[in-house]
Amino acid sequence: MSKAPRQVRAARSGHGLPPYPIPCTTRCPRGAWYLVTTAVPASRPALPATAPHPVPDPAAAARTYELDRKHVFHSWSAQRSLTPLVVAGAQGSWVWDGDGTPYLDLTGQLVYTNIGFGHPAVVEAIARQAALLATVAPQHANAARSELARMIVERAPGQHFSHVFFTNGGADAVENAVRMARLHTGRRKVLARYRSYHGNTTTAINLTGEPRRWPNDYGAEGVVHFWGPYLYRSAFHATTEEEETARALEHLEQLIQFEGPGTFAAIVLESVPGTAGVMVPPPGYLRGVRELCDRYGIVWIADEVMAGFGRTGRWYSVELSGDRPVPGAPGVWERGVDEAAEPDLVTFAKGVTSGYVPLGGVIISEAIYETFAERPFPGGLTYSGHPLAAAAAVATITAMEKEGLVEAGDRLGREVLGPGLAELAARHEIIGEVRGTGAFWALELVRDRATREPLVPYNASGAANAPIALLAAAARRRGLLAFVAGNRTHLAPALNMTDEEARYGLALLDETLTEVANSL
Ligand SMILES: Cc1ncc(COP(=O)(O)O)c(C=O)c1O
Repeated sequence: MSKAPRQVRAARSGHGLPPYPIPCTTRCPRGAWYLVTTAVPASRPALPATAPHPVPDPAAAARTYELDRKHVFHSWSAQRSLTPLVVAGAQGSWVWDGDGTPYLDLTGQLVYTNIGFGHPAVVEAIARQAALLATVAPQHANAARSELARMIVERAPGQHFSHVFFTNGGADAVENAVRMARLHTGRRKVLARYRSYHGNTTTAINLTGEPRRWPNDYGAEGVVHFWGPYLYRSAFHATTEEEETARALEHLEQLIQFEGPGTFAAIVLESVPGTAGVMVPPPGYLRGVRELCDRYGIVWIADEVMAGFGRTGRWYSVELSGDRPVPGAPGVWERGVDEAAEPDLVTFAKGVTSGYVPLGGVIISEAIYETFAERPFPGGLTYSGHPLAAAAAVATITAMEKEGLVEAGDRLGREVLGPGLAELAARHEIIGEVRGTGAFWALELVRDRATREPLVPYNASGAANAPIALLAAAARRRGLLAFVAGNRTHLAPALNMTDEEARYGLALLDETLTEVANSL
């Protein structure tokens, strides 16, 4: 590859002058540079001081890309349509491609790099564990797993948790939690909400309340879906959060009664539905779910795979059930107004290791543990509590605590992301609603604020999805990784993203939204 033009390098090194480089996509051979004619607005801050300056290796990236297209089969995709970004390396809140172009990561990848990339304490812990005991069969006790189980139980959202079953990721955590609930109750049916994602094993995908379930759903998994609270697009024609809460709970109870009150083993609920739209539960909703579970003998499985481990400014997002939002102040909460409602099982994954090594698990209450105290639990995994993953998790939790990262995520939301996104909403007509908390936010994008017509229809693809596809591409062209889902863009940065980085990301998002609006 020829070297980047001098003015491009100047712009990349933070002087903020146009033109700046566009990372290559299908339209340009890898390693080429495109010059942009659009002026960079005066409002865009200079590239943050933390931005990396990696050594480019376009030849290696080209080979990676070529082999990927030749041999790698990707998730959830029509394979030939893909043009993946080659990520050559990452540090902190940044990744870079083979040309050495840095991208600020507002996505947390798939919402899991909660402590950012390359945390030295976690990298070192993995290396140390690899040298000591890289692997061991799950029937043997090992120090990393024992220590991690203690740490997780001690931070669990409730006093009645005692044990942890470790899995490889989130879907198998959900799968095993449902199995435990079925055996514990002797019932088969499970409740799950529309607008949810629970993973890609048979039970988990059937629990999922969005279109990825449809081709996998043979109606055989005993799942009954219901509507959860979502005032912006209320299924109950509610106009206030109080109404929405009351009607959503009434709907859930009616459903239980008409489906057979004695037939449900579990309700599986993301405390804050993540990929489905970052809907923070209104006050009273999770407490109401707890009451219904108690009334009908149903096990409450809180799916904290995405929203757990600091993402919402709490260890677990279910802790939000005891707090109350402060009106007019996005991301600000009155803490501990009510006692938080406590689930029976909690599934986790993603942030527990910040994704450095795959790991998930189920936190088990004493009552459910007792069901399997004398009788075998009919489930297991070769890598349950894999020592490399466990060591990574122990180091991640230790770093989160030492560095106050849960509080940092909460502050980032209150002081930077919440106000910054509210400011964007004041200027961009296509933002219908801003919602979220901590380091977890969604912008609901609309064609018309009054009618709330979504920017793209539900389950859009191809030309119908063009504005959202443009958002992701236009952000990437500016050096920003943006998460898109349905008609929304979500923000899920590392909890330790600096204020300067977050403001820079918001400025790039601002430009991107203008480009999307102009394309309509
Ligand atoms: C809430 C929730 N549950 C379960 C899963 C599945 O996790 P995994 O992809 O690790 O199997 C996800 C993944 O995004 C998730 O967001």
